[in-house]
Amino acid sequence: MGAKKRIGILTSGGDCAGLNAVIRAVTHCAISVHGWEVIGICKATLGLMTNPPQLMHLDVNKVDRWLTMGGTMLGTTNKGDPFAFPMADGSVKDRSQEIIDNYHQLGLDALIGIGGDGSLAILRKLAQQGGINLIGIPKTIDNDVGATERSIGFDTAVNIATEALDRLHFTAASHNRVIIVEVMGRDAGHIALNAGIAGGAHVILIPEIPYKLENIATYLTKRQAEGQDYSVIVVSEAVCSENGQPIQQMQAFGQARLGGIGQYLAEKIADLTNAETRVTVLGHTQRGGISSPLDRILASSFGVAAVELIAQEKYDQMVVWQNRQVDYVPIAEAIKNYRNVDSEGTLVKTARGLGICLGD
Ligand code: F6P
Repeated sequence: MGAKKRIGILTSGGDCAGLNAVIRAVTHCAISVHGWEVIGICKATLGLMTNPPQLMHLDVNKVDRWLTMGGTMLGTTNKGDPFAFPMADGSVKDRSQEIIDNYHQLGLDALIGIGGDGSLAILRKLAQQGGINLIGIPKTIDNDVGATERSIGFDTAVNIATEALDRLHFTAASHNRVIIVEVMGRDAGHIALNAGIAGGAHVILIPEIPYKLENIATYLTKRQAEGQDYSVIVVSEAVCSENGQPIQQMQAFGQARLGGIGQYLAEKIADLTNAETRVTVLGHTQRGGISSPLDRILASSFGVAAVELIAQEKYDQMVVWQNRQVDYVPIAEAIKNYRNVDSEGTLVKTARGLGICLGD
Protein backbone atom coordinates (compact mmCIF):
# COMPACT_ATOMS: atom_id res chain seq x y z
CA MET A 1 0.00 0.00 0.00
CA GLY A 2 1.39 3.45 -0.99
CA ALA A 3 1.31 6.61 1.12
CA LYS A 4 -2.09 7.45 2.61
CA LYS A 5 -4.00 9.85 0.41
CA ARG A 6 -6.83 12.28 0.99
CA ILE A 7 -9.03 12.52 -2.08
CA GLY A 8 -11.96 14.74 -2.98
CA ILE A 9 -14.95 13.83 -5.09
CA LEU A 10 -17.65 16.01 -6.64
CA THR A 11 -20.55 15.71 -9.06
CA SER A 12 -21.01 18.51 -11.59
CA GLY A 13 -23.60 19.40 -14.24
CA GLY A 14 -27.06 17.87 -14.60
CA ASP A 15 -27.74 14.92 -12.32
CA CYS A 16 -28.49 11.44 -13.61
CA ALA A 17 -28.97 7.94 -12.28
CA GLY A 18 -25.77 6.18 -11.18
CA LEU A 19 -23.93 9.12 -9.58
CA ASN A 20 -24.32 7.78 -6.06
CA ALA A 21 -23.13 4.37 -7.24
CA VAL A 22 -19.88 6.01 -8.40
CA ILE A 23 -19.42 7.83 -5.09
CA ARG A 24 -20.02 4.53 -3.29
CA ALA A 25 -17.49 2.66 -5.45
CA VAL A 26 -14.83 5.34 -5.00
CA THR A 27 -15.38 5.38 -1.22
CA HIS A 28 -15.29 1.59 -0.89
CA CYS A 29 -12.15 1.18 -2.98
CA ALA A 30 -10.27 4.18 -1.56
CA ILE A 31 -11.00 3.30 2.08
CA SER A 32 -11.30 -0.51 2.13
CA VAL A 33 -8.56 -1.31 -0.38
CA HIS A 34 -6.15 1.61 0.07
CA GLY A 35 -6.88 2.99 3.54
CA TRP A 36 -7.31 6.56 2.24
CA GLU A 37 -9.65 9.35 3.28
CA VAL A 38 -12.53 10.47 1.03
CA ILE A 39 -14.06 13.95 1.19
CA GLY A 40 -17.26 14.66 -0.71
CA ILE A 41 -17.46 18.22 -2.04
CA CYS A 42 -21.05 19.52 -2.12
CA LYS A 43 -22.74 21.29 -5.06
CA ALA A 44 -19.86 20.81 -7.50
CA THR A 45 -17.29 23.64 -7.50
CA LEU A 46 -19.73 25.84 -5.55
CA GLY A 47 -18.77 23.82 -2.47
CA LEU A 48 -15.19 25.05 -2.78
CA MET A 49 -16.22 28.69 -3.24
CA THR A 50 -17.44 29.14 0.32
CA ASN A 51 -15.45 29.47 3.52
CA PRO A 52 -15.54 27.03 5.12
CA PRO A 53 -16.01 24.75 2.07
CA GLN A 54 -19.19 22.64 1.97
CA LEU A 55 -18.03 19.09 2.57
CA MET A 56 -19.36 15.63 3.41
CA HIS A 57 -16.92 13.16 4.97
CA LEU A 58 -17.58 9.81 3.34
CA ASP A 59 -17.15 6.39 4.88
CA VAL A 60 -18.10 2.89 3.87
CA ASN A 61 -21.12 2.71 6.19
CA LYS A 62 -22.51 6.01 4.97
CA VAL A 63 -22.37 5.10 1.27
CA ASP A 64 -23.26 1.45 1.54
CA ARG A 65 -26.92 1.86 0.56
CA TRP A 66 -26.26 4.47 -2.13
CA LEU A 67 -25.92 1.91 -4.94
CA THR A 68 -29.42 2.29 -6.35
CA MET A 69 -30.23 5.85 -5.33
CA GLY A 70 -31.05 8.43 -7.99
CA GLY A 71 -29.75 12.01 -8.03
CA THR A 72 -26.56 12.88 -6.22
CA MET A 73 -26.15 12.92 -2.45
CA LEU A 74 -23.42 15.54 -2.91
CA GLY A 75 -25.67 17.93 -4.86
CA THR A 76 -24.67 19.53 -8.12
CA THR A 77 -25.10 22.55 -10.34
CA ASN A 78 -25.11 23.13 -14.07
CA LYS A 79 -24.68 26.88 -13.70
CA GLY A 80 -21.93 29.15 -12.47
CA ASP A 81 -18.76 28.71 -14.51
CA PRO A 82 -16.13 29.70 -11.89
CA PHE A 83 -14.12 31.54 -14.56
CA ALA A 84 -17.10 33.82 -15.28
CA PHE A 85 -19.21 33.50 -12.17
CA PRO A 86 -22.48 35.48 -12.10
CA MET A 87 -22.46 37.68 -8.96
CA ALA A 88 -25.55 38.93 -7.10
CA ASP A 89 -24.99 42.49 -8.35
CA GLY A 90 -25.17 41.33 -11.98
CA SER A 91 -21.40 41.46 -12.56
CA VAL A 92 -19.29 38.49 -13.63
CA LYS A 93 -16.18 37.49 -11.66
CA ASP A 94 -13.34 34.98 -12.11
CA ARG A 95 -13.54 32.90 -8.89
CA SER A 96 -11.29 30.06 -10.01
CA GLN A 97 -8.51 30.87 -7.53
CA GLU A 98 -10.89 30.49 -4.55
CA ILE A 99 -11.57 26.89 -5.61
CA ILE A 100 -7.90 26.14 -6.17
CA ASP A 101 -6.93 27.64 -2.80
CA ASN A 102 -9.54 25.58 -0.97
CA TYR A 103 -8.42 22.38 -2.73
CA HIS A 104 -4.88 22.95 -1.44
CA GLN A 105 -5.99 24.12 2.02
CA LEU A 106 -7.96 20.90 2.44
CA GLY A 107 -4.73 18.99 1.79
CA LEU A 108 -6.28 17.02 -1.06
CA ASP A 109 -3.94 14.77 -3.05
CA ALA A 110 -6.38 14.33 -5.92
CA LEU A 111 -9.88 15.21 -7.07
CA ILE A 112 -12.37 12.97 -8.85
CA GLY A 113 -14.79 15.01 -10.97
CA ILE A 114 -17.91 13.27 -12.26
CA GLY A 115 -19.32 15.31 -15.12
CA GLY A 116 -20.22 15.71 -18.77
CA ASP A 117 -18.03 17.39 -21.37
CA GLY A 118 -18.79 20.95 -20.18
CA SER A 119 -18.04 20.23 -16.52
CA LEU A 120 -14.92 18.24 -17.32
CA ALA A 121 -13.60 21.09 -19.50
CA ILE A 122 -14.04 23.55 -16.60
CA LEU A 123 -12.52 21.16 -14.06
CA ARG A 124 -9.54 20.53 -16.32
CA LYS A 125 -8.96 24.27 -16.74
CA LEU A 126 -8.97 24.62 -12.94
CA ALA A 127 -6.61 21.66 -12.63
CA GLN A 128 -4.17 23.09 -15.16
CA GLN A 129 -4.20 26.51 -13.53
CA GLY A 130 -3.96 25.33 -9.95
CA GLY A 131 -2.00 22.08 -9.93
CA ILE A 132 -5.03 19.93 -9.08
CA ASN A 133 -4.52 16.20 -9.63
CA LEU A 134 -7.73 15.53 -11.52
CA ILE A 135 -9.42 12.32 -12.68
CA GLY A 136 -12.62 12.57 -14.74
CA ILE A 137 -15.57 10.18 -14.79
CA PRO A 138 -18.07 10.67 -17.64
CA LYS A 139 -21.75 10.93 -16.80
CA THR A 140 -24.67 12.20 -18.83
CA ILE A 141 -27.95 10.81 -20.02
CA ASP A 142 -27.09 12.35 -23.41
CA ASN A 143 -24.18 9.86 -23.90
CA ASP A 144 -22.35 12.51 -25.91
CA VAL A 145 -18.94 12.55 -24.21
CA GLY A 146 -16.25 11.69 -26.75
CA ALA A 147 -13.94 8.68 -26.32
CA THR A 148 -16.31 6.60 -24.20
CA GLU A 149 -18.94 4.29 -25.62
CA ARG A 150 -21.09 4.75 -22.53
CA SER A 151 -21.56 7.45 -19.92
CA ILE A 152 -23.22 6.92 -16.56
CA GLY A 153 -26.96 7.65 -16.60
CA PHE A 154 -27.57 6.90 -20.26
CA ASP A 155 -28.79 3.34 -19.82
CA THR A 156 -31.27 4.30 -17.11
CA ALA A 157 -32.60 7.13 -19.28
CA VAL A 158 -33.07 4.71 -22.20
CA ASN A 159 -34.87 2.27 -19.89
CA ILE A 160 -37.24 5.00 -18.69
CA ALA A 161 -37.96 6.23 -22.24
CA THR A 162 -38.48 2.64 -23.43
CA GLU A 163 -40.90 1.90 -20.62
CA ALA A 164 -42.86 5.05 -21.52
CA LEU A 165 -43.05 3.92 -25.16
CA ASP A 166 -44.18 0.45 -24.08
CA ARG A 167 -47.02 1.98 -22.11
CA LEU A 168 -47.99 4.53 -24.77
CA HIS A 169 -48.45 1.87 -27.48
CA PHE A 170 -51.53 0.56 -25.68
CA THR A 171 -53.27 3.87 -25.16
CA ALA A 172 -52.38 5.07 -28.68
CA ALA A 173 -53.82 1.88 -30.15
CA SER A 174 -56.98 2.06 -28.02
CA HIS A 175 -57.83 5.54 -29.33
CA ASN A 176 -56.36 5.26 -32.85
CA ARG A 177 -54.04 8.17 -32.08
CA VAL A 178 -50.57 9.29 -33.06
CA ILE A 179 -48.62 9.79 -29.85
CA ILE A 180 -45.42 11.78 -29.98
CA VAL A 181 -42.88 11.25 -27.21
CA GLU A 182 -40.30 14.00 -26.76
CA VAL A 183 -37.10 12.81 -25.09
CA MET A 184 -33.97 14.59 -23.85
CA GLY A 185 -30.46 14.18 -25.20
CA ARG A 186 -29.34 17.70 -26.07
CA ASP A 187 -27.79 17.77 -29.57
CA ALA A 188 -27.34 13.99 -29.73
CA GLY A 189 -30.11 11.56 -30.66
CA HIS A 190 -28.83 8.57 -28.66
CA ILE A 191 -31.77 8.35 -26.24
CA ALA A 192 -34.36 8.70 -29.02
CA LEU A 193 -32.68 6.15 -31.28
CA ASN A 194 -32.01 3.54 -28.60
CA ALA A 195 -35.38 3.87 -26.87
CA GLY A 196 -37.14 4.13 -30.22
CA ILE A 197 -35.75 0.78 -31.36
CA ALA A 198 -36.21 -0.89 -27.96
CA GLY A 199 -39.73 0.52 -27.56
CA GLY A 200 -40.96 -0.28 -31.06
CA ALA A 201 -41.49 3.32 -32.22
CA HIS A 202 -42.81 3.70 -35.76
CA VAL A 203 -41.04 7.01 -36.37
CA ILE A 204 -37.76 8.15 -34.79
CA LEU A 205 -36.54 11.70 -35.32
CA ILE A 206 -33.04 12.70 -34.23
CA PRO A 207 -31.04 15.91 -34.75
CA GLU A 208 -28.43 14.09 -36.85
CA ILE A 209 -30.94 13.18 -39.62
CA PRO A 210 -32.91 16.04 -41.23
CA TYR A 211 -36.55 15.15 -41.90
CA LYS A 212 -39.46 16.20 -44.09
CA LEU A 213 -42.99 16.39 -42.65
CA GLU A 214 -44.33 15.04 -45.91
CA ASN A 215 -42.27 11.84 -45.49
CA ILE A 216 -43.67 11.31 -42.01
CA ALA A 217 -47.24 11.99 -43.20
CA THR A 218 -46.87 9.56 -46.12
CA TYR A 219 -45.52 6.88 -43.78
CA LEU A 220 -48.34 7.33 -41.23
CA THR A 221 -51.01 7.35 -43.93
CA LYS A 222 -49.59 4.15 -45.41
CA ARG A 223 -49.63 2.49 -41.98
CA GLN A 224 -53.25 3.50 -41.61
CA ALA A 225 -54.13 2.19 -45.07
CA GLU A 226 -52.55 -1.12 -44.06
CA GLY A 227 -54.81 -1.35 -41.01
CA GLN A 228 -52.40 0.03 -38.38
CA ASP A 229 -54.63 2.70 -36.99
CA TYR A 230 -52.19 4.18 -34.48
CA SER A 231 -48.55 5.23 -34.36
CA VAL A 232 -45.91 6.11 -31.82
CA ILE A 233 -43.25 8.68 -32.66
CA VAL A 234 -40.16 9.42 -30.59
CA VAL A 235 -38.42 12.73 -31.14
CA SER A 236 -35.23 14.08 -29.66
CA GLU A 237 -35.54 17.50 -27.99
CA ALA A 238 -32.99 19.21 -30.29
CA VAL A 239 -34.76 18.28 -33.52
CA CYS A 240 -35.54 21.54 -35.34
CA SER A 241 -38.62 22.65 -37.23
CA GLU A 242 -38.74 21.40 -40.81
CA ASN A 243 -37.02 24.55 -42.05
CA GLY A 244 -34.20 24.19 -39.54
CA GLN A 245 -35.34 26.62 -36.81
CA PRO A 246 -34.38 25.49 -33.27
CA ILE A 247 -37.45 25.07 -31.05
CA GLN A 248 -36.81 26.37 -27.56
CA GLN A 249 -38.57 27.72 -24.49
CA MET A 250 -37.47 30.95 -22.84
CA GLN A 251 -36.88 30.59 -19.11
CA ALA A 252 -36.33 33.06 -16.30
CA PHE A 253 -33.15 35.17 -16.65
CA GLY A 254 -33.46 35.06 -20.44
CA GLN A 255 -32.11 31.49 -20.67
CA ALA A 256 -33.28 29.40 -23.64
CA ARG A 257 -33.96 25.69 -23.07
CA LEU A 258 -34.68 22.97 -25.60
CA GLY A 259 -38.28 21.81 -25.72
CA GLY A 260 -41.44 22.06 -27.79
CA ILE A 261 -40.63 19.97 -30.85
CA GLY A 262 -43.22 17.37 -29.80
CA GLN A 263 -46.03 19.93 -29.82
CA TYR A 264 -44.80 21.38 -33.14
CA LEU A 265 -44.92 17.92 -34.75
CA ALA A 266 -48.31 17.12 -33.23
CA GLU A 267 -49.87 20.19 -34.87
CA LYS A 268 -48.20 19.63 -38.26
CA ILE A 269 -49.03 15.92 -38.37
CA ALA A 270 -52.66 16.55 -37.37
CA ASP A 271 -52.93 19.07 -40.23
CA LEU A 272 -51.32 16.78 -42.79
CA THR A 273 -52.97 13.47 -41.88
CA ASN A 274 -56.15 14.32 -39.93
CA ALA A 275 -54.88 12.02 -37.21
CA GLU A 276 -55.68 12.78 -33.60
CA THR A 277 -52.35 13.55 -31.99
CA ARG A 278 -51.13 13.71 -28.39
CA VAL A 279 -47.76 14.65 -26.90
CA THR A 280 -45.85 13.22 -23.94
CA VAL A 281 -42.76 15.12 -22.83
CA LEU A 282 -40.65 12.83 -20.62
CA GLY A 283 -38.36 15.62 -19.37
CA HIS A 284 -36.54 15.06 -16.11
CA THR A 285 -38.14 11.68 -15.43
CA GLN A 286 -35.29 10.42 -17.61
CA ARG A 287 -32.74 11.59 -15.05
CA GLY A 288 -34.45 10.36 -11.93
CA GLY A 289 -35.09 7.22 -10.02
CA ILE A 290 -33.32 3.96 -9.40
CA SER A 291 -30.34 3.33 -11.68
CA SER A 292 -30.39 0.36 -14.05
CA PRO A 293 -28.13 -2.64 -13.36
CA LEU A 294 -25.94 -1.65 -16.34
CA ASP A 295 -25.47 1.87 -14.96
CA ARG A 296 -24.62 0.45 -11.54
CA ILE A 297 -22.01 -1.84 -13.09
CA LEU A 298 -20.55 1.00 -15.18
CA ALA A 299 -20.54 3.37 -12.19
CA SER A 300 -18.88 0.77 -9.97
CA SER A 301 -16.24 -0.04 -12.60
CA PHE A 302 -15.51 3.65 -13.28
CA GLY A 303 -15.27 4.43 -9.55
CA VAL A 304 -12.77 1.64 -8.88
CA ALA A 305 -10.74 2.50 -12.01
CA ALA A 306 -10.56 6.18 -10.99
CA VAL A 307 -9.16 5.23 -7.57
CA GLU A 308 -6.60 2.90 -9.17
CA LEU A 309 -5.43 5.73 -11.46
CA ILE A 310 -4.87 7.90 -8.38
CA ALA A 311 -2.97 5.04 -6.73
CA GLN A 312 -0.69 5.03 -9.78
CA GLU A 313 -0.55 8.86 -9.74
CA LYS A 314 -1.72 9.00 -13.35
CA TYR A 315 -3.61 12.29 -13.47
CA ASP A 316 -5.42 14.42 -16.04
CA GLN A 317 -7.12 11.22 -17.28
CA MET A 318 -10.77 10.29 -17.82
CA VAL A 319 -11.97 6.73 -17.36
CA VAL A 320 -13.80 5.37 -20.40
CA TRP A 321 -15.73 2.29 -21.48
CA GLN A 322 -14.20 0.96 -24.68
CA ASN A 323 -14.24 -2.49 -26.27
CA ARG A 324 -16.04 -4.16 -23.39
CA GLN A 325 -13.78 -2.84 -20.65
CA VAL A 326 -12.73 0.16 -18.63
CA ASP A 327 -9.76 2.10 -19.93
CA TYR A 328 -8.56 5.66 -19.60
CA VAL A 329 -7.61 8.52 -21.94
CA PRO A 330 -6.28 12.05 -21.38
CA ILE A 331 -9.23 14.31 -20.44
CA ALA A 332 -8.28 16.75 -23.20
CA GLU A 333 -8.63 13.99 -25.78
CA ALA A 334 -11.89 12.71 -24.27
CA ILE A 335 -13.68 16.05 -24.48
CA LYS A 336 -12.20 17.15 -27.82
CA ASN A 337 -14.90 15.48 -29.89
CA TYR A 338 -18.62 15.62 -29.29
CA ARG A 339 -20.11 12.14 -29.75
CA ASN A 340 -23.40 12.24 -31.60
CA VAL A 341 -25.24 9.52 -33.51
CA ASP A 342 -23.41 8.13 -36.53
CA SER A 343 -26.05 8.50 -39.23
CA GLU A 344 -24.47 5.57 -41.09
CA GLY A 345 -23.98 3.47 -37.93
CA THR A 346 -25.41 0.15 -36.82
CA LEU A 347 -28.42 1.49 -34.95
CA VAL A 348 -29.53 3.74 -37.80
CA LYS A 349 -29.17 0.78 -40.18
CA THR A 350 -31.12 -1.36 -37.71
CA ALA A 351 -33.93 1.17 -37.56
CA ARG A 352 -34.11 1.35 -41.33
CA GLY A 353 -34.03 -2.45 -41.54
CA LEU A 354 -37.02 -2.59 -39.22
CA GLY A 355 -38.95 -0.27 -41.49
CA ILE A 356 -38.90 2.56 -38.95
CA CYS A 357 -39.38 5.99 -40.54
CA LEU A 358 -36.47 8.34 -39.79
CA GLY A 359 -38.15 11.19 -41.62
CA ASP A 360 -35.61 11.46 -44.46
O1 F6P B 1 -27.45 17.22 -20.36
C1 F6P B 1 -28.44 16.55 -19.66
C2 F6P B 1 -29.79 17.19 -19.89
O2 F6P B 1 -30.75 16.43 -19.18
C3 F6P B 1 -30.19 17.36 -21.35
O3 F6P B 1 -30.63 16.15 -21.92
C4 F6P B 1 -31.23 18.43 -21.23
O4 F6P B 1 -31.34 19.18 -22.42
C5 F6P B 1 -30.71 19.30 -20.11
O5 F6P B 1 -29.82 18.51 -19.36
C6 F6P B 1 -31.76 19.85 -19.19
O6 F6P B 1 -31.16 20.69 -18.29
P1 F6P B 1 -31.89 21.31 -17.01
O7 F6P B 1 -31.80 20.28 -15.91
O8 F6P B 1 -31.10 22.53 -16.72
O9 F6P B 1 -33.31 21.57 -17.37
